[in-house]
Amino acid sequence: MTNVAETQKKTTGGYDPAKYDLDLNDWPTIVAPPPGPKSQEIHAKTAKIMKGLSGQVRLFPVVFSEGKGCTLTDVDGNKYIDFSSGIYVTTLGHCHPKVSEAVAKWAHRLMNAHDFTTPVKHALLEKMMDVLPGDFGGVQLYDSGTTAVEAALRTARAASGKHEFLSCFADFHGKSGGSVSLARMNKIYGPTRAPGFYMIPRPDTYRPWWTRPDGSLDTEKYLEFYDKFILEGTTNQVAAIVLEPIQGWAGTIMPPDDFFPKLRKWCDERDILLVADEVLTSMGRTGKWLAVENWDTTPDIVTLGKGFGNGFPVTAMVVREKYAEAVDKISASTSYGGNPMACAAALACIEVIEEEDLLNHAKELEKFFVKRLEQMKSEHPIIGDVRCLGCLMGVELVKDRSTKEPFDQAGKLVYQRAFSKGLAWIPAGHILRMSPPIVMTEKVAAKAMDIIDESIGEVEKELGY
Ligand SMILES: Cc1ncc(COP(=O)(O)O)c(C=O)c1O
Repeated sequence: MTNVAETQKKTTGGYDPAKYDLDLNDWPTIVAPPPGPKSQEIHAKTAKIMKGLSGQVRLFPVVFSEGKGCTLTDVDGNKYIDFSSGIYVTTLGHCHPKVSEAVAKWAHRLMNAHDFTTPVKHALLEKMMDVLPGDFGGVQLYDSGTTAVEAALRTARAASGKHEFLSCFADFHGKSGGSVSLARMNKIYGPTRAPGFYMIPRPDTYRPWWTRPDGSLDTEKYLEFYDKFILEGTTNQVAAIVLEPIQGWAGTIMPPDDFFPKLRKWCDERDILLVADEVLTSMGRTGKWLAVENWDTTPDIVTLGKGFGNGFPVTAMVVREKYAEAVDKISASTSYGGNPMACAAALACIEVIEEEDLLNHAKELEKFFVKRLEQMKSEHPIIGDVRCLGCLMGVELVKDRSTKEPFDQAGKLVYQRAFSKGLAWIPAGHILRMSPPIVMTEKVAAKAMDIIDESIGEVEKELGY
């Protein structure tokens, strides 16, 4: 195993901004206000057949036809800057040549070999063990974040001999039986949570539940509540606490710096496994392989997804060496998990991150983003809070800074304005969520932030601020 400092040194070429430079006279360019006529026509026909489209698509039914690096193009010829990496997925930008070539090579050679070992699977697993920090020693490969989370639940049960789970308010972990029972339930998912799944509050630095007399967030109070909850609300058979290091969908909700180290100790003292669902936050998104490294914490089980394959459906569940025996009892056999194309994609992603020194570049971008976000906050009264770690950001819009009342209307309008100016990003409630590819140059990042800044200004004016 190597530590973070060592892995970050293992770069060969370094970040080359020229590779990702864009002519800002050309990007973004809107020739037909989105959704343009061609998008509308193709989408209308598609939507007659495809059901259950996301709010994002319903709000802006644009039909994308091409993606390269940090850009997207639609069928009407509109050119966008991608400021969300698709849906937190294309961390290395669209169609990174090394990733595309790796997938193509195996698409021509061997597409599927069940869970037999292949040379490329062997190479990926060794590479993962090389770069991941801590004492990880067991991996299973899957094809969605949800299935990796389900595997984590099975493993936690096998390793602990217990069957109950704690998860946190506003977390998201997927859409199947177990993973959905870890998350906020609503009518999309059916009438009830599976037995043995319980939710608890987690510390949110902007909206703390429990504070010290000086108003600062009191992490200890949360942990005390967890103890009380286990005593009163469970049968004391808690196998694990499962949580996102940073809550992505909920709006880039950051924990206080002492939360993960204290939670690690709390878990150890109670023989409860710590499961970090890093489907959204891993593989460079926060400038580290794992987001929990930002707080020097090693989980017992971690799930990887989204940026792990940069768009190719490949995910993983990784366990510490001491649980390798337990995970060996859990069958890893799936139709697609760990197929040669998937392994090639994930391996190429890790190599690109190393070769292009992208963990460091994401941290450099973080410095730029933090400064720019703070500047925006000082100029816009509707911004209540700004948050950023690596290339994962959140801007919380409020009607009034003293009451912190969420400003959903403003969020929707800002999203629409910026999209119409050529910024492809994720729709907001009252929290603007940004997750640009970590390969983005500071010049392009600055342009994207200018579009958001300008859009917030216009919306403030429109709403009388
Ligand atoms: C933290 C987290 N876990 C799990 C999932 C589910 O992943 P997938 O959509 O690949 O099944 C997501 C998806 O957004 C996620 O953000």
